Amino acid sequence: MSPAGPARLDSPRRIVLGVGGGIAAYKACEVLRRLTELGHQVRVIPTEAALHFIGAPTWEALSGLPVHRDLFADVAEVPHVRWGQAADLVLVVPATADLLARAAHGRADDLLCATLLTARCPVLLVPAMHTEMWEHPATVHNAAVLCSRGTVVAQPASGRLTGADSGAGRLPEPAEIVDLAVLLLRRADALPSDLTGRRVVISAGGTREPLDPVRYLGNRSSGRQGYALARVAAQRGARVTLVAAHTAELTDPAGVQVLDVGTAGQLREAVLTAAPQADAVVMAAAVADFRPANPQLSKIKKTGVDPDPISLVCTPDILAEVVRRRLAGQVVVGFAAETGDSEGDVLTHGRAKLARKGCDLLVVNAVGEGGAFEVDHNSGWLLGDDGAETELPEGPKSLLASYVWDAVATRLKRNPPAA
Ligand code: CTP
Repeated sequence: MSPAGPARLDSPRRIVLGVGGGIAAYKACEVLRRLTELGHQVRVIPTEAALHFIGAPTWEALSGLPVHRDLFADVAEVPHVRWGQAADLVLVVPATADLLARAAHGRADDLLCATLLTARCPVLLVPAMHTEMWEHPATVHNAAVLCSRGTVVAQPASGRLTGADSGAGRLPEPAEIVDLAVLLLRRADALPSDLTGRRVVISAGGTREPLDPVRYLGNRSSGRQGYALARVAAQRGARVTLVAAHTAELTDPAGVQVLDVGTAGQLREAVLTAAPQADAVVMAAAVADFRPANPQLSKIKKTGVDPDPISLVCTPDILAEVVRRRLAGQVVVGFAAETGDSEGDVLTHGRAKLARKGCDLLVVNAVGEGGAFEVDHNSGWLLGDDGAETELPEGPKSLLASYVWDAVATRLKRNPPAA
């Protein structure tokens, strides 16, 4: 890991943060704070409506830059052209129904919409609105038009909306928005719509096998890589089922069905139930290889027990089972966290595991010395059953996820999605 931190890019980038007039504008403050902490220069352009929710002094204090709000201020600097042209990323949080409509029609009636027209960089619009507005055919059409032009329209989350109601249309969490923004800065082509119509199943996290009601055998997987895979797949158009083992610290990715499980047995049940409907199955979870043979119903006491009371039995190899039951055209991806040893290095173990497991693709991560576990960045190799070996550069876990989905999408192209 570079001392600068996981999501930090080699050089600071120029980001325009547009803010639409919705209650979720307050969450854009957190997005701004996180982006500036990563070292980026962020220029905020709020709409007039946004200033009803959060005033210009807040944006100026958080960004360290003056806030421009009107097309006819500082005309000599031609800001509506200059900022769009100079930006590395234009991000709009929240993108209201009105902003989506104006952007889809190419309107230039305020500084933000004019900037959207002059931007030649990736543009990420993050919608937030009531469910009825998000699902209205006009909004659906506007979002589709924008996507067809290469704008990335993020999936809104489901959950509590303004007031007591809940549903689709909630702004995704700021960390998730920043993750997508950094991904687009790293790889402008990272979020195509090439998984539209596809169903994918992803396992994430680490299973825990109980010894008694208090103790368990577990592992250090946080689930972050699996969640990044889910987030990127949903953004690329897939219908995602995420089977999550002990990932309570993580926020559910927007637009994803999350099934919580605890043990290897529960994870197996959930994955094998969902897999027959899936075009791709990605086993990113760290599954226990062993479990206590006789978990106790009451707490094991240290007095009066055999000092070696734990006998273990093997858990089923779920990935191997998915491969055995694989449907024609289904793509199966495994993960291998390796340290290397006297028998061979990380890649040698990875190649052997790919052959042993029989999956189509295997992501190999080097672990130990701060690698892979409980951090936001990752690197490794992607091995294919066709002998292809691609080095995956160090970067946020969403970047690694985007390379995995590239490889899956390439394989799926040979089988068109069912109607
Ligand atoms: N896996 C699985 N079921 C298990 C163990 C692992 O489905 N009981 C999956 C993991 O989700 C991962 C892949 O198999 O995608 C490789 O996991 P890993 O622990 O590296 O492999 P093992 O087969 O357990 O081999 P070893 O621990 O001996 O290296």
